[in-house]
Amino acid sequence: MNNSDLQLSSLPEIASLSVQRVLSVRHWNEHLFSFTITRPASLRFRSGEFVMIGLAVEGRPLLRAYSIASPAWAEELEFLSIKVPDGPLTSQLQAIAPGDPIYLGKKPTGTLVLDTLLPGRRLFLLGTGTGLAPFLSLARDPEVYDRFGQILLTHGVRRVSDLAFRDMLEGALAGDPLVGDQALLQFRYQPTVTREEFPTRGRIGDLARDGRLFAKLAGPAQFCSETDRVMLCGSMAFNRDMANMLREQGFAEGSNAQPGHFAIERAFVD
Ligand code: A2P
Repeated sequence: MNNSDLQLSSLPEIASLSVQRVLSVRHWNEHLFSFTITRPASLRFRSGEFVMIGLAVEGRPLLRAYSIASPAWAEELEFLSIKVPDGPLTSQLQAIAPGDPIYLGKKPTGTLVLDTLLPGRRLFLLGTGTGLAPFLSLARDPEVYDRFGQILLTHGVRRVSDLAFRDMLEGALAGDPLVGDQALLQFRYQPTVTREEFPTRGRIGDLARDGRLFAKLAGPAQFCSETDRVMLCGSMAFNRDMANMLREQGFAEGSNAQPGHFAIERAFVD
């Protein structure tokens, strides 16, 4: 019996969960990793949604919400996770290897989806840390490019090595089978780093307030609720600060039931 048989036998069957296999794991630094798993044919989701992911810890399923980083059309599911040394789930999850079994929820859900936003010209995707994940999904979905003229992604992190998927994003998703050509014209990426030297430094909120964020990403056109839509995904403090800033500028929060000018979701924290 190898290690994955042992784990599989310790994953009790749960009606609301399926057991999938880890396909690949990539460690970005000592705090951050991403992984892909098999996608069951029955799993449907909208780009930007999250789903429960987990392992058996001390014989019992331990699950957390994870944004799906792959787009709705992808054959595999990709996730981005922090590593918390004493985090109940991530201390175990960071040790997964290809072939290992993993729990996957059956009902993805969430608000960072196109349905929560009114039509607009520019879509700003503003995320910190693992809050990048849902935007990796949306930025690779052709429907996003059909609905918005410009897709502008900002990723705020502490260190340069936290800029997961930087090469792919800096290359404007070149070579992506579905959105490569559109992204070249419509997609912009602006990383910002707070605790190391980097060409763009500072918190996203500060860059937005002093105008640097929109000037760098979107050019001179004024940022306003008539034409601009925003999705936020980060820590509670980030989401609160940014949502307050948007409300002050006349932006209304959208939901699945009532679309608005911006949508918000908290990034996963162990
Ligand atoms: P800072 O380094 O100044 O705390 P974390 O790893 O803690 O989730 O942070 C990820 C990034 O989000 C960091 O660059 C951090 O900046 C930034 N950040 C934290 N809180 C806020 C906030 N309220 N508004 C904007 N950015 C924030």
